[in-house]
Amino acid sequence: MAIEPTRDDRFSFGLWTIGWQAADPFGSATRPPLDTVEAIRRLSDLGAYGVSFHDNDLFPFEATAGERQHKIDRLKAVLEETGVVVPMITTNLFTHPVFKDGGFTSNDRGVRRFALRKVIQNLDLAADLGAKTFVMWGGREGSEYDVAKDIRGALARYREAVNLLGEYVTDKGYGIKFAIEPKPNEPRGDILLPTLGHALAFIETLDRSELFGVNPETGHEQMAGLNFTHGIAQALYAGKLFHIDLNGQRGVKFDQDLAFGHGDLQNAFSLVDLLENGGPAGGPAYDGPRHFDYKPSRTEDINGVWDSAAANMRTYLLLKERAQAFRADPEVQAALAASRVAEIHEPTLNPGEGYEALLADKSAYEDFDTEAYYGGKGFGFVKLQQLFIEHLLGAR
Ligand code: GCO
Ligand code: MN
Ligand code: MN
Repeated sequence: MAIEPTRDDRFSFGLWTIGWQAADPFGSATRPPLDTVEAIRRLSDLGAYGVSFHDNDLFPFEATAGERQHKIDRLKAVLEETGVVVPMITTNLFTHPVFKDGGFTSNDRGVRRFALRKVIQNLDLAADLGAKTFVMWGGREGSEYDVAKDIRGALARYREAVNLLGEYVTDKGYGIKFAIEPKPNEPRGDILLPTLGHALAFIETLDRSELFGVNPETGHEQMAGLNFTHGIAQALYAGKLFHIDLNGQRGVKFDQDLAFGHGDLQNAFSLVDLLENGGPAGGPAYDGPRHFDYKPSRTEDINGVWDSAAANMRTYLLLKERAQAFRADPEVQAALAASRVAEIHEPTLNPGEGYEALLADKSAYEDFDTEAYYGGKGFGFVKLQQLFIEHLLGAR
């Protein structure tokens, strides 16, 4: 398998990733601004098929209608020139001081109405550009102090806001779906909908819940000490994996936004295996963009920016190749069988069986040999895991 990314791999990047000037709370920018046209040409040359952006990655918050349109026209021209597409866009409800207590859930009702107007304007842009997914990362929706935010009230306002947006895209016939992106903290002390589980539960309460799914980011679940592959599997199980943000994170700490695979590599490997080989017939379990949301490290100049963009895609493809080799290895197949991995798909009850039949089945309880599990009946998971590691290391 070639390790050169192609458009068929559906790799996409946020303009805010390669365009990040690397200012952090402790230091000023280390890189000059990157022009959108240049960024898209370079991404296209590297093999990406798509770009995404916040409204204010393309034009500033203060832009006049004319300035905004000029930036949109420039974008459309370079999309036309390169063939790059815009599968997803999102709205910046976090940079400007007006959003210091959030957008949809600010205690200030005027701010909430302003935020809705900003998002609706951006939904019109999404439709104009043909984007079918609209990400909502509520980075400022949260609090530092428990006493300062009535969480039930804030969730009610969140729900009110996204219900209105669902109504808007339906009435307009935009065919857009929303992907909510969880994050536990940063920039707020605590962010609402902090994990995939919180977001999935919230989505079930919405008026048009079929329009809403999740945009999980690797590092965000890992910041909460959670297993990203498990979270993705649950999102797939719920039919809610509408988009994905791939990056790298090492442990429970600030949001590192490292390149994909530069954090927890084992979790990245199991993730790629799930996405590429976890479908019902063994094929892909997800067909959306493989979207990278990372930050080229502050130490890097523009060469490091492009090296890191290429690294994301190359690592993904290497892991995909390794995962295919893992699945095709007869020893792995034997180890999977010995570990009874497929047996989880067998229903626990017989067809038509209810609790009465279960209670009548002596083999299930009275005659079941629980003693055999002491000193025997090992599952062989360690052997399987070692094969997984050896494939990851390229040793097989
Ligand atoms: C983060 C987030 C953001 C969002 C993006 C979309 O790293 O905290 O991932 O990058 O994904 O802003 O709104
Ligand atoms: Mn992040
Ligand atoms: Mn993200």
